[in-house]
Amino acid sequence: MTEAPVEEQKLSSGLPGLDTMLDGGFNRGRVVLVLGEPGTGKTIICSQFLHHGAAALGENSMFIGMNEPKSRFMKEMNNLGMDFAKLEAQGKFMYIDATEVRKIPEMAKVGRIAVGGRELGLVNLLETIQSAIAKFEPMRIALDSMADLVFRFPSVEERRPVVLDMIETLQSTSATSLLTSELLSTGEERVLQPEEYLAEGVMLMRTLRKGVRTVQILKMRGSKVDTHPRPYVITGKGIEVLATEEVY
Ligand SMILES: Nc1ncnc2c1ncn2[C@@H]1O[C@H](COP(=O)(O)OP(=O)(O)OP(=O)(O)O)[C@@H](O)[C@H]1O
Ligand SMILES: [Mg+2]
Repeated sequence: MTEAPVEEQKLSSGLPGLDTMLDGGFNRGRVVLVLGEPGTGKTIICSQFLHHGAAALGENSMFIGMNEPKSRFMKEMNNLGMDFAKLEAQGKFMYIDATEVRKIPEMAKVGRIAVGGRELGLVNLLETIQSAIAKFEPMRIALDSMADLVFRFPSVEERRPVVLDMIETLQSTSATSLLTSELLSTGEERVLQPEEYLAEGVMLMRTLRKGVRTVQILKMRGSKVDTHPRPYVITGKGIEVLATEEVY
C-alpha cells in the first residue's frame, strides 16, 4: 500500500476524544484555529498537543507564548502533569517568549526615524519566529494567542493582514500548528473573525450555562469530522473530550 500524501496524514492531537471527533487527528502540516471564550482551556489544548508530540512521539514542539512568561507557563502545565522543563532539557521543546511584543510603544525608533511601533513589533516577531523555526525544525507549533497579537489593531480591516501574515508564516513550515484566539461575539448573529476564514480548521470552545464546557469543530478542510458540539471536562490531568456524548 502506498503512503497517503503528507497533507492527508493524521497527527494525533494528544486528546483521545478530540481525535475521535477529528476522524483520527489533525491533518499534518495544517494550521488550526482554537477559538474560544476566556478560561475554556485553549492554552491547555495547545500544551497537550505539544506535550504528546514531544513526550510520546519524540517530535520537536514549539510554544509561542504571547500572554505569559515561560516560568508561569511551565509551572501551570506542571500542575496538570506536563513536565515541559524536562522536554526542554531533552531538546524536544522550545518556548518562545513573545510577551515583549505587547510592550513595544505605539511609536518606536529605528535609528533616528520614528516608525509605527506596533508594525515594527510584528515584523520583529515574525522574523524571530521564522528563524527559530528554521533552527529548531518543529513538527508541532502552538501560538497562544492571536488576540494578544492583534489587540492594537482594533478594526477587522487592520487585523486581516496581521492575521494573514502570521498564518502564512505558520503555513510556510512543515509543522502542524495550533493558533488560539478569543471569541469576539456569540449568538446567531456572531461576526466571523478573519482568522476563521484564513485557518484551515476551526474548533470552537465554549462554556454554556450551568458550566457545561463544549467543543465544536466548525471546519476542517479535507477531513470528514464530527461537527456536533461535544462536552469536555478539565481535570488535574488536563482536558478530556467526551466524544460520544450529546450536549443538552
Ligand atoms: N487542576 C484543574 N482542575 C480543573 N480545572 C482546571 C485545573 N486547572 C485548570 N483548570 C481550568 O482550566 C481553565 C484554564 O485553562 P486555560 O488557561 O487553558 O484557558 P484559556 O482558554 O487559555 O484561558 P485564557 O482565555 O485566560 O487564556 C480554568 O478556567 C480552570 O477552570
Ligand atoms: Mg490561555
